[in-house]
Amino acid sequence: MNKKVLVTGGLGFIGSHTVVALQKEGFEVIIIDNLSNSSIDVLGGITKITGTTPEFENIDLRDKQAVKRFFEKYTEIDGVIHFAASKAVGESVEKPLLYYENNISSLVYLLQELNERESANFIFSSSCTVYGQADKLPITEDAPVKKAESPYGNTKQIGEEIIQDICKVSPQLKAISLRYFNPIGAHPSADIGELPIGTPQNLVPFITQTAIGKRDELSVFGDDYPTEDGTAIRDYIHVLDLAEAHVHALKRLLQNNEKSNYEVFNLGTGQGNSVLEVIKAFEGSTGEKLPYKIVGRREGDITAAYADTTKANQELKWKAERSLEEALSSAWKWQLEVKKREEEDN
Ligand code: WQD
Repeated sequence: MNKKVLVTGGLGFIGSHTVVALQKEGFEVIIIDNLSNSSIDVLGGITKITGTTPEFENIDLRDKQAVKRFFEKYTEIDGVIHFAASKAVGESVEKPLLYYENNISSLVYLLQELNERESANFIFSSSCTVYGQADKLPITEDAPVKKAESPYGNTKQIGEEIIQDICKVSPQLKAISLRYFNPIGAHPSADIGELPIGTPQNLVPFITQTAIGKRDELSVFGDDYPTEDGTAIRDYIHVLDLAEAHVHALKRLLQNNEKSNYEVFNLGTGQGNSVLEVIKAFEGSTGEKLPYKIVGRREGDITAAYADTTKANQELKWKAERSLEEALSSAWKWQLEVKKREEEDN
């Protein structure tokens, strides 16, 4: 009997790629998504890649009774991977209550149901943003968590603390927080990828939309950072590597290999790249020329972040294998596909 996994936010960018990786490993997947930041078409993209359509429930996790009814209907869930959350840093500053309500109450309602069960395996989508500007690079999991720069980042910190607190008193609940660095790229089939709504906040979708002509030019937010070329450094990880890490984390819990019932892992490549290096790598791997200009720093941005991946490599038996160039060319292939679909729709 295949193990059943609930993936909340499973029609989103990282969620959909993780659903594909789970199905490839033989897991049976049920998706909860309220389609607030995703499209039902993603279900078709997943099916095209794996040949299996996941079960889908259009539920808003802020609806406590709907969450309860879900777990009354699906009594055989072996693991939960929780992606569903609002994730735009800038928007969270404008609308903090929307972020606290959505990201925190959804998590609490899920955990309340799981806490009623004899055993539960829970994986939380967290972020390197909890570290702020780390004092030491590369960043290990025991680097101090710093005061969040945004309500979005705060919801990740609070989320981790909530999970830690419940795991302390519920040994039957086993949880892992995965702190993502910068996820980029798309499935090589270009059947699924990142679908930013409105103007992309993140670097790589802005790059691909500029290269395809949807944006005039990329604004590079600052070249006066204390780095080699003056632009900020991040750890860009291919979304497929990230998705596969979730399968490894889930297996760790299902096989009872965990060292404690609450663990944290950094998910990155261990390699840092500056904005200008990403632009150069994009041009090199796609042959496209990217128009850009240097502007002032973006409020809240840090100078540099890249992961120490030792713990995930050893404990999850997982390592990011794909290159920056591979991730960027997959993002570009996906952007070309999105353009083709838009032209077909018009
Ligand atoms: C990367 C670099 C920008 C856009 C955020 C969240 C993090 C996660 C990933 C959700 C920075 C520069 C960007 C642009 C630019 N989100 N940049 N021009 O800020 O590292 O991380 O997104 O889980 O939690 O904090 O990612 O892609 O926005 O920026 O120069 O138009 O690119 O200054 O140095 P970030 P990003």
